[in-house]
Amino acid sequence: TLLLATQAEIVVAPAMNVHMWQHAATQTNVETLRARGVQFVGPDSGFLACGWEGAGRMSDPEEIAAVAELRLGPRSLAGQRVLVTAGGTREAIDPVRAITNRSSGKMGFAIAARVDVESALDMRSAVLDRLDSTDLVVKAAAVADFRPASVADQKIKKESLPEGVAPTLELVRNPDILAEVSQAPGDRIVVGFAAESEDLVPAARRKLARKGCDLIVANDVSREGAGFDGDTNAVVLVWPGGEVEELPLLTKAEVAGELLDRIEKLWSERS
Ligand code: PMT
Repeated sequence: TLLLATQAEIVVAPAMNVHMWQHAATQTNVETLRARGVQFVGPDSGFLACGWEGAGRMSDPEEIAAVAELRLGPRSLAGQRVLVTAGGTREAIDPVRAITNRSSGKMGFAIAARVDVESALDMRSAVLDRLDSTDLVVKAAAVADFRPASVADQKIKKESLPEGVAPTLELVRNPDILAEVSQAPGDRIVVGFAAESEDLVPAARRKLARKGCDLIVANDVSREGAGFDGDTNAVVLVWPGGEVEELPLLTKAEVAGELLDRIEKLWSERS
C-alpha cells in the first residue's frame, strides 16, 4: 500500500529463496514492475540463508546505494535519448543448438534498460531502427563476431553422421554494429567497449581507431573481478586524443555512474 501511494522512484533489492525467485509468478511480476519503471538491483547468487544455493542473495549495500544514487541523483542527462546494448548474442546452428559467449548483460543493464534481441543481426536491426532518435549509444554488448553460415531447419542428428564424426561448422563474419553506428551521419556520442585478455590499452587503441567511436571502455576479462558475469568490473577509458584513464575495481553500477559522468562532460564540452 505504501508503494501504491508513493510518487517516488522505486528501486527494489529482492532477497529470497532461489526457487521463489525463479518461480514463474515472481518472474512475471518482476517483468510487470520493470515495465512500470521499477528498477531492480540483484538478487546476487550464492549461499542463501535458507540453506539453498543460487540466485536470491541481497545485493551488497554499496551496490544498492550506487544504483539508488544513479537513479535519484542529478538528472543531468534528462531528455537525452540513450541506446545501450548489453549481454551476449546467440547464433543459431539448428533449432536446438547455438553458439554464444559468457556475457551476462550485467554491465549494460547497469547503464540502462533494454529491448531483448537474440542474434547479432537482430541486434543490428534493433539498433539501426532506433538510431535516428538517439543522442548517445553505449555498446556494452558482447556481439558475436561470427555466426553459422547456415541454420539447419531441423535438429542435426548425430546418427546422420558417420560414427565418431562431428559436424564441421562453417562460420561467416557478422556486421560490426559499433563501426556502422560510429560512421552513421549525426552528432550522437558513441561509446564502445573492448573485452581483451592481453595488451589491454594497445588493443583498445587499435579498436578505437578502427571503429571510429568517441570513447572505448576497455576491460581485461582475464582479471579477477573484471569482465564477464560478476557484479564488479575494472575498466580503462581510452580516448581518441590518446589519454587513458584507469578506474579502480568498482561495482558495475559504479562503473556505469563513472561512465555517465564522463559522457555528460563530453556532452557539455561539445555543446
Ligand atoms: O555482460 P557482462 O557479463 O556484465 O560482461 C561485461 C562485458 C565483459 C561483456 C563488457 O564489459 C564488455 O566488454 N563488452 C564488450 C564485449 C565485446 O564484444 O568486446 P569486443 O572487443 O569483441 O567488441 C568491441 C566493441 O564492438 C564492443 O562495443 C561490441 O559491442 C562491438 N561489436 C563487436 C562485434 C560486432 N559484430 N559488432 C559490434 O558492435
